[in-house]
Amino acid sequence: MNDRPLVLDCQSSPIQTLLIEDKLADCHLVQGMLAKAADILFNLTCANRLATGLELLSRNDIDVILLGLLLPDSKGLSTFVKVHKQAGEVPIVVLTDLGNEAIALESVRMGAQDYLVKGHVNTDLLVRSIRYSIERKKGEVELRKLNETNRRTVVMVAHDLRSPLTAIQGCAELLHDGDIGIVSTTQQEMLGTIIRNTQQVSLLVNTFLDFEQIRAQTLHLDRDYFSLEGMLSAVAEEFKPDALARGLELRTDLGSSLLVYGGREQLARVFHNLLSNAIKFSDTGVITLRAWKEKNLVLVDVIDQGRGIPKEELPHIFEKFYRARHLDSSNPKEGIGLGLTIAQTIVEEHGGMLRVNSKAGKGSTFSVILPIAPERRKHSGSH
Ligand SMILES: Nc1ncnc2c1ncn2[C@@H]1O[C@H](COP(=O)(O)OP(=O)(O)OP(=O)(O)O)[C@@H](O)[C@H]1O
Ligand SMILES: [Mg+2]
Repeated sequence: MNDRPLVLDCQSSPIQTLLIEDKLADCHLVQGMLAKAADILFNLTCANRLATGLELLSRNDIDVILLGLLLPDSKGLSTFVKVHKQAGEVPIVVLTDLGNEAIALESVRMGAQDYLVKGHVNTDLLVRSIRYSIERKKGEVELRKLNETNRRTVVMVAHDLRSPLTAIQGCAELLHDGDIGIVSTTQQEMLGTIIRNTQQVSLLVNTFLDFEQIRAQTLHLDRDYFSLEGMLSAVAEEFKPDALARGLELRTDLGSSLLVYGGREQLARVFHNLLSNAIKFSDTGVITLRAWKEKNLVLVDVIDQGRGIPKEELPHIFEKFYRARHLDSSNPKEGIGLGLTIAQTIVEEHGGMLRVNSKAGKGSTFSVILPIAPERRKHSGSH
């Protein structure tokens, strides 16, 4: 066969079927079977090379693709991968030789709608597979669109919650600190509760939004030069009341001039999560936040003397939605198991590493290692 597409016109107003297959005998076989279909019309176009098939596909009038995987210019699963990438909403039915079902099955796992074994197909089976594939793909596309709309709505709601939460927290803090007028001890306690709970909801909203960005691979870092110790000290101050309320002491040991280049807000969230974990998973002892410089690195340790992490759980704690087994999933304060996934991604986006050292019953040390910002660029925006 030459490179020109072989167009085998069956009937009018048909299902536009693209057969990518280099064996002429198979093309004729498929044409014969489709021509015999009783109540449905097909227009079959046959391409004998992958390149020709992709070109025909780009014309956007194809309803279904029948794909042989062994072509002169592409072989095996990579044929499927290339066609699938370009197929968009067009369903693919893989045609395989007897004995090659494993690859065909793998292509189904990767998104093909069905596979048929050559020599074991008749008109009924072929037509049913094509119709089923078209309908199933339509359903999949609808479902994906619906999911996407739902996801966008939730992201929008979460995003819009941030401003009112900040306003509530700001006002409550002013009242709590007596900036608006004298408040009684009871009122101050209640305002303290409002502030803590608002922070909790803000953290949850930000965790969700960070995770969405990571999932969609759109994590945006507003990079700037800044000294990490200032931010670490502020985060530690935020957590001191929480630590105290749980009978824990929170100590800081922060070096100076720990200059990094990165997303201040996102890095703050990393330490928010590590400190909130240290507090959440400790019943007693001291929590230490220490940071120092070593060669061209900035190192930060969050050390607790809490319950520690059993050896068998350690490989899983950075997985999304992984939470210690004993946690109560109905208690939002106990988290959703995304903190470390997000923290690790953020640290790695900065060219750094997040490491853990832990012993059950003894405590944990989470270490963040970040590259120090180059001195020569220090003045362009440092503060
Ligand atoms: N300092 C720690 N001490 C003991 N276990 C920890 C510590 N930090 C994390 N873990 C374990 O790792 C799991 C995952 O932590 P991660 O921060 O991802 O989730 P989370 O704190 O449960 O929820 P989220 O951070 O989403 O609010 C925790 O549920 C816990 O089992
Ligand atoms: Mg956490």
